[in-house]
Amino acid sequence: MKVSVIGLGKIGSCLSYFLASYGFKVYGYDINSKIIDSLNKLRNPFGIEPQLSNYINKYNSNVVILDNLEKTINNSDISFVIVPTPSNKNGDFSNKYILQYIKKLAPILKSKNKYHLVNITSTVMPGSCDNIFKKYLLTKNLKEDLNFGITYNPHFIALGNVINNLENPDFVLMGSSSKKSYDTLKKIYSRIYPLKKIKKLNLLEAEVTKIAINSYVTMKISFSNIISQIADNANSFNSTEVLNSIGLDKRIGNAYLKVGSAFSGPCFPRDNIAFINYLKKSNINFGLQNSTVKINLEQTSRYIRILNNFKNIYKKNPKVGILGISYKSDSDLFIDSQSCEFVNFLLSKKYSVYYYDEYCNSNLVKNYFKKISHAKNIESLIKLTDIIFVFYKDKKISKKINKMNTKKIIVDIWDQLDLKENHFFLGKNNILHLKKTK
Ligand SMILES: NC(=O)c1ccc[n+]([C@@H]2O[C@H](COP(=O)([O-])OP(=O)(O)OC[C@H]3O[C@@H](n4cnc5c(N)ncnc54)[C@H](O)[C@@H]3O)[C@@H](O)[C@H]2O)c1
Repeated sequence: MKVSVIGLGKIGSCLSYFLASYGFKVYGYDINSKIIDSLNKLRNPFGIEPQLSNYINKYNSNVVILDNLEKTINNSDISFVIVPTPSNKNGDFSNKYILQYIKKLAPILKSKNKYHLVNITSTVMPGSCDNIFKKYLLTKNLKEDLNFGITYNPHFIALGNVINNLENPDFVLMGSSSKKSYDTLKKIYSRIYPLKKIKKLNLLEAEVTKIAINSYVTMKISFSNIISQIADNANSFNSTEVLNSIGLDKRIGNAYLKVGSAFSGPCFPRDNIAFINYLKKSNINFGLQNSTVKINLEQTSRYIRILNNFKNIYKKNPKVGILGISYKSDSDLFIDSQSCEFVNFLLSKKYSVYYYDEYCNSNLVKNYFKKISHAKNIESLIKLTDIIFVFYKDKKISKKINKMNTKKIIVDIWDQLDLKENHFFLGKNNILHLKKTK
């Protein structure tokens, strides 16, 4: 079977070369000419996905990059649709870009007169595949199972690690509305994964599963942050030890039960709000997810409280260092990251704020925050500031700081550093440690 990938963005480009690595002939299509140009020149458009460069070099002979949708569809039996679904003002995912594609697809399918599977991979609101996309194609006199099929097949990936995540999923989620569409998609994936990895659901069940998984994971993160907050007031309390113990219970498990920052990034917060909206519309109590979001929003005030605790050591506002301004290691996304609101607060209160992040574009960070200063490496960040907050987990950061002999106060939000006199771990003995520092 020949496949096409519609939308060659951060996920779509990786998916194209990943499918090509399993011997599929892949037709990639995008409306962005820069991406088309870059891939045609065998250049990785997303430096942040280092694995993609190797895949482009190795498998480009199986990939044809096109800017013509008709050719793309006529050359393929199935299209993986991975275009953006930005959040609307109310937090629902917008179907705007998928609909743009579906509307162009309908007349092509009409003249193609051959079965084509539309495999939606973008994250959508529950009900979209059946009630919107399929309905639209039916109104154009296209027949399910004859002209088209529709499946919902999102992937669970993290930016910076997309190909690796595609290679090793816990399971492959496939929502379908007919046997034919399921069998067609299964044919593709049976070449890649053992059949036992495939989970077959209907369209609505799969759409709910995608956002419910992220809502469950974030519930665990907010729960961990509540446990870690106990250390803010208790004299002797190690949240890591407590969370590790809770996770030993097999009913709970250790994954995502760790001390850390608020959750952020392109999926977790948006999936949560979308799930809340869906529950609201279905007249189902959404209090549990609402609390997850509320606890998450409270985390910035925790960082501010910690800073205020230290403030009396200094005569004036301490200079604050942000080590890691993007939402995670290996990512250049910094808008709405876990440190973003904290940085905005500090700048509004006229603090001097410096940051270092090896993954972010310093011009973009400067344009966004304006008054923030960039340190050229970890050493200079520490030299330039009085108190440093380490905002994401990263082995290179912990290795470097553990080797350093600095007297500066370091707030270790993820419990990743060796505990030294001046290292202040967010979830352990806060007050006691503060006294020692004084
Ligand atoms: N980024 C993530 O971590 C992540 C994780 C899981 C799921 N998702 C979901 O995957 C989807 C895509 O995410 P992304 O990060 O790859 O987005 P992206 O913005 O990086 O890429 C989307 C691409 O689609 C192209 N496009 C837009 N409209 C098009 C059209 N009509 N026809 C062809 N191409 C079109 C854009 O030009 C862009 O290159 C979204 O629904 C997102 O929620 C993203």
